[in-house]
Amino acid sequence: MVFDFDVFTVGGCGRVGLPLSIAFAGKGLKVVAYDIDREKISSVQKGIMPFLEEGCDERLKLLINKNLVASGDLSLLSRSKFVIITIGTPVEEHLNPQYSAMKRFFIDLMPHFTKGQYVILRSTVYPGTTEKIHNLLKENGVLVNLAFCPERIAEGRALCELESLPQVVCAFDQETIWEVSKLFNLLTEEIVILDPIEGELAKLFTNVWRYIHFAIANQFYMIANQYGLDFYRIYEAMTHNYQRARGLPKPGFTAGPCLFKDTMQLAAFNNNNFFLGHAAMLINEGLPNYIVQKLKEKVDLRSKKAGILGMAYKADCDDRRDSLAYKLRKILELEAKEVYCSDVYVPDSSFISPEELLAQCDVVIVAAPHKEYKDLKLAKDKLLVDVWNFYGQGGRI
Ligand SMILES: NC(=O)c1ccc[n+]([C@@H]2O[C@H](COP(=O)([O-])OP(=O)(O)OC[C@H]3O[C@@H](n4cnc5c(N)ncnc54)[C@H](O)[C@@H]3O)[C@@H](O)[C@H]2O)c1
Repeated sequence: MVFDFDVFTVGGCGRVGLPLSIAFAGKGLKVVAYDIDREKISSVQKGIMPFLEEGCDERLKLLINKNLVASGDLSLLSRSKFVIITIGTPVEEHLNPQYSAMKRFFIDLMPHFTKGQYVILRSTVYPGTTEKIHNLLKENGVLVNLAFCPERIAEGRALCELESLPQVVCAFDQETIWEVSKLFNLLTEEIVILDPIEGELAKLFTNVWRYIHFAIANQFYMIANQYGLDFYRIYEAMTHNYQRARGLPKPGFTAGPCLFKDTMQLAAFNNNNFFLGHAAMLINEGLPNYIVQKLKEKVDLRSKKAGILGMAYKADCDDRRDSLAYKLRKILELEAKEVYCSDVYVPDSSFISPEELLAQCDVVIVAAPHKEYKDLKLAKDKLLVDVWNFYGQGGRI
């Protein structure tokens, strides 16, 4: 069977789908970045990235309407050899898994699948989903080859990580493993082969492991702070020329669209018997509350204007999904006289400039330490909360 396109990414204008489409197009493949978001499609068609991603702006401009097309036309799916699914993980508002949404999604795609295609699930999924989809396709006589290849990039570093991280390839037969491995070998040399359920768990374990690591740092920070100590003095001593403590991350807001959600997926998979994961969730999600409680002990917040510097979920990033800065804002709105927010990357007409924020506010909390904030100067009479120790003055509240 000869296909017109090599790769068709579903969710192709998203944070995972677009860099992946760009990476494959950059290797000479013909790629369709398919999406249902009209605004994103139109932006990509003009060669403009809809979000920040290092190195993508230039590459997109070079490839668009040549090897790469952005489209909302689902009929192109049947003309593509590899179909890569990169839509968001189906979860409901309490982060419970929603297999029914994934099932519906595949039922809708079914009329477009062609015999002999390779369908690759790239989204993070609830363990067992790949097998369920495999059975669903079989029961409906859809003769495609299904694989699961989890995305492991960190936002902002997608292009370089796609070409440096080993790719995990999981499928139900050798031929699919071979073909899909050949595809990913265009990006990276190393391929790790697992069974689908192992791969699904490997992806969740990876994110949960990180989430728990950050929780350890945040818990240590809060313990030290409770005793009036600056955790960073202890942290430096622990990690200085001492290999075994090197893996300890620094404290800070642990947020974003993946780590918390994936920890809850793993908890659901284990019938909610996941004390460590739930404890990590309480610690990480509780950090904004802790900050406000400590501030209340220090100053009369009701008479203070509070400012949040950086609303994205992490530094140097424009993604605000599940950012703890917004949770902090909600709590401060209850406790402080006024709350102001600023972010150099996240567009929002209600935000003020960082300089204005520093001038206006009595208390300034660094939520996302964007590099642009490094040279900001805060007047001595203002209170700075810098859990990240971004300004090198310690993290004590
Ligand atoms: N963002 C990351 O850094 C990251 C890293 C690793 C894994 N993941 C996983 O990758 C998946 C995607 O995450 P993301 O951050 O790219 O999400 P995203 O919201 O940025 O992208 C998803 C895209 O899919 C599109 N979409 C939704 N439904 C669609 C449909 N029916 N047909 C076509 N397009 C559709 C959306 O419009 C959007 O552009 C998730 O499972 C996530 O957990 C994300």
